[in-house]
Amino acid sequence: MSENRMAGRRMAVPEKSKRGLLGVLKELLEYSKNLKVPTIIALSLAVAGAVLTIIGPSQLSRIADLITEGLAAGIDLKAIAGVGALLLCMYLASALFTYVEHFIMATITLSLSKKMRDDLSRKINNVPMECFGRTSHGDILSRVTNDVSTLQQALSNSLPSIISSAAQFVGCLVMMFVTEWRMALAAVLVTLLGFAAMALIMSKSQRYFVARQRNLGSLNGYVEEMYSGHDGVRISCANDQIKKVFAGLNKEVYEAERKSQFLSGIMQPLMNVVGNLGYVVVCVLGAVLAINGQISFGVITAFIMYVRLFTSPLSTIAQGMTQMQTAAAAGDRVFDFLQEKELSDESHKTERLETVRGEVEFDHVRFSYPSNPDKIIIKDFSAHVLPGQKVAIVGPTGAGKTTMVNLLMRFFEINSGDIRIDGVSASRIL
Ligand SMILES: Nc1ncnc2c1ncn2[C@@H]1O[C@H](COP(=O)(O)OP(=O)(O)OP(=O)(O)O)[C@@H](O)[C@H]1O
Ligand SMILES: [Mg+2]
Repeated sequence: MSENRMAGRRMAVPEKSKRGLLGVLKELLEYSKNLKVPTIIALSLAVAGAVLTIIGPSQLSRIADLITEGLAAGIDLKAIAGVGALLLCMYLASALFTYVEHFIMATITLSLSKKMRDDLSRKINNVPMECFGRTSHGDILSRVTNDVSTLQQALSNSLPSIISSAAQFVGCLVMMFVTEWRMALAAVLVTLLGFAAMALIMSKSQRYFVARQRNLGSLNGYVEEMYSGHDGVRISCANDQIKKVFAGLNKEVYEAERKSQFLSGIMQPLMNVVGNLGYVVVCVLGAVLAINGQISFGVITAFIMYVRLFTSPLSTIAQGMTQMQTAAAAGDRVFDFLQEKELSDESHKTERLETVRGEVEFDHVRFSYPSNPDKIIIKDFSAHVLPGQKVAIVGPTGAGKTTMVNLLMRFFEINSGDIRIDGVSASRIL
C-alpha cells in the first residue's frame, strides 16, 4: 500500500474542470466523428418539438376569445372544434418529435459510451506501468464505470432538454412580444431576476462537481486497494489506520456531494418562485389592460401559459446544467486517461528468445522513475550474471532491488545503458 500514491491522490485541487463544459463537448465531437449528424438531427427535432409547443397558447387564446364572444351570442362550437383539432395535431407532432429525438440521442450516446469503455480498456493495456503508480486501480475503474455512464446519461437526457428548453424559451419570448409587448416586458423582467441568481449559483458550484467526481474516484481507489490488500492490512494490524483514512475520504465525498447538491437544490425552488411571481405579474397587469379595453381576455389566457412555458425551460436548463457540469467533470477524467501517453509501438520488434539460456547483463544502467525524473535511483550499475548462476540481490529498503527487477521485466524504460538477456538488448525483444 504505497503511501506516495495516497499522497499523490490528494494533490492540489483543480478549481474547475480542466476543459470546461464546451471543451468536453468539443472533445466529444472530435472523439466520435459519426456523432455530429445524428446529434444535429436530434437537436433539431428537439427544437421543432419545442416550437410546436409554443404555438399552442396562441391557439388556446383563440379558443378563449371564441368562448368570450360566444357568451353573448351563442358559442361557435364548430370553430372551437376546428382550432381544437389543430391544437391536438400540433401537440401530437411535438410529442412524436421529442420521442424520436430521445431515441436517437439514447442510441448514439449508448454506442458512444460503449466505444469509450472499449477504448479505456484498450488503453489500460497500452499505458506504461508508470501510469498505474500515479493513479490507483480503483480510480481508473471509476473512470471506466462511473464517469462514462455519468457522461452518457447527461448527453442523452440533459443535452436535448437544454436545447429544446432554450428553443422554447426563445420562441416564447418572441411570441410574447408579438402578442402584447407590455405584458411580455413585465414577465421578462421578473424572469431575468431568476436568471441572474441562477448564473451566480452556477459559477459557484462547478468546482464542487469536479471535486465530487474526483473524490468518488479516490474513495473507489482506496476501497479497491484496501480490499485487494486485505491480508496485508490484517497482518500489519493497520485496521485502525485504514479506517481513519477511509473516514477522511468518505467525508470528502460527503462534503463535495453535499455542497454540490445544496447549491443545485436551491435552483428548483428558486425557479418556482420566479415562475409564480410571473403569474401574479401577468394576471394583475393583464387585468388592468383588459379593464382599459386594451387587450382581450384571450391574451391573458395565452400569457398565463406563456409564463409557464417561459419559466419552466429555465428550471429545466438549470437542472440540465448541473447534470452537464457533472458530465464535464466526468468527461475530463475520461479524456485525461484516454489521452495518456502510450507505450511506443513495438510491432516492428522481431527479436524473440525461444529457448532462454538465462544470461543477464546490466551494462552501465542509469534509471529514474518517470514520475520523479530528478531522483536517479540507479546511477551507473553493471553486472553480469551467467546462465545457471545464482545471485542474491541485497540492500537496505529503498536501495532499488525491486526497481532492478522492474527494469529486467521492462516495466520501465531505462535512461541510458543497456540490459541484455542472452546477449540481446531487452529493448529489441518483443
Ligand atoms: N513507482 C515509483 N515511482 C517513483 N519512485 C519509486 C517508485 N517505486 C520505487 N520508487 C523509489 O525508488 C527507490 C527504490 O525503490 P525500490 O522499491 O526499488 O527499493 P527496494 O530495494 O525494492 O526496497 P524494499 O527493500 O523496501 O523492497 C525508492 O527510493 C523508492 O522511493
Ligand atoms: Mg522491494
